[in-house]
Amino acid sequence: MKLEGKKVLLTGASGGIGEELAQELAAQGAHLLLHGRRGPALDRLCKALPHPERHQVVIADLGVAHERAKLLQHPALEDGLDILINNAGCNQFAWLEDQSAEQVERQLLLNIEAPIQLTRALLPTMRKPGIIMNMGSSFGSIGYPGYSVYCASKFALRGFSEALGRELEGSGIKVLHFAPRATRTKLNSEAAYEMNAELGTQTDSPQEVAEEAVIALCNETRRSWLGWPEKLFVQLNALLPAIVDKALAKQLPVIERYARHLQARTAEPGVGAQPQPVLSRPIPTKKEL
Ligand SMILES: NC(=O)c1ccc[n+]([C@@H]2O[C@H](COP(=O)([O-])OP(=O)(O)OC[C@H]3O[C@@H](n4cnc5c(N)ncnc54)[C@H](OP(=O)(O)O)[C@@H]3O)[C@@H](O)[C@H]2O)c1
Repeated sequence: MKLEGKKVLLTGASGGIGEELAQELAAQGAHLLLHGRRGPALDRLCKALPHPERHQVVIADLGVAHERAKLLQHPALEDGLDILINNAGCNQFAWLEDQSAEQVERQLLLNIEAPIQLTRALLPTMRKPGIIMNMGSSFGSIGYPGYSVYCASKFALRGFSEALGRELEGSGIKVLHFAPRATRTKLNSEAAYEMNAELGTQTDSPQEVAEEAVIALCNETRRSWLGWPEKLFVQLNALLPAIVDKALAKQLPVIERYARHLQARTAEPGVGAQPQPVLSRPIPTKKEL
């Protein structure tokens, strides 16, 4: 699909991957409805984009049903959409028993309930040809310790994308599932970055991810996973999960050390406006454990 003149609703545009994606889409001539919760960040972004007059801003907490309803009533949506990008998301890197009920609920509401409800509400007025792109994760195909709830939400999003894509076959609307690997944004806690460094896990810049997302949109690629060796592990986990069980069992002491000994952001996980997390206590070295 050519993006010139296409009307796009982009959730989670106020930071990280979404902000870079907004830049890429605007550069391709798309007309954007930029969503987030932080109005000033969205206004700044909107003004900095090529042709700011083509773009609009909408503020809503997608974890709250009446705020989603408010978003859906935005005048820019009245005559339909060409592209919906369900990008807003959050995570909590912590052992399950250390997560509060609210942290679990927030991840499930934002990462899976909100995309399903937005898609359901917007589908009848989507223009044809149209595209729904769901921002997944490599953790939507690989269950990773310390991310059980996030993985659950992203596995669900992948299942939703696949089933809906098959349901809409031949309708003129395509559903794309796009899965980045670890990306350097404020979504991830400091503990997660330190763990990734110790384990040698590579990370991408949000700009690289946004460029790939636009390529997937233009090519209408139904399933994309970013990064090597993540792509291989996704396939290996699907075919021979016991091999991945063993590999992750070897990493488990390191993962547990970071997941359990650094205080994760608790108030608003994965929110760009939040300060970096602080150490609750020094990370014990391997010798101390
Ligand atoms: N970073 C990674 O390592 C990584 C890897 C794979 C996939 N992903 C996925 O990529 C997507 C974007 O992540 P990111 O890394 O760019 O995260 P980010 O930098 O933390 O940005 C998250 C975006 O989601 C919005 N958001 C958060 N909570 C919200 C809520 N309750 N209601 C409405 N909007 C909310 C934020 O808006 P405000 O700040 O205005 O609240 C912000 O625009 C997510 O779906 C994530 O799961 C990320």
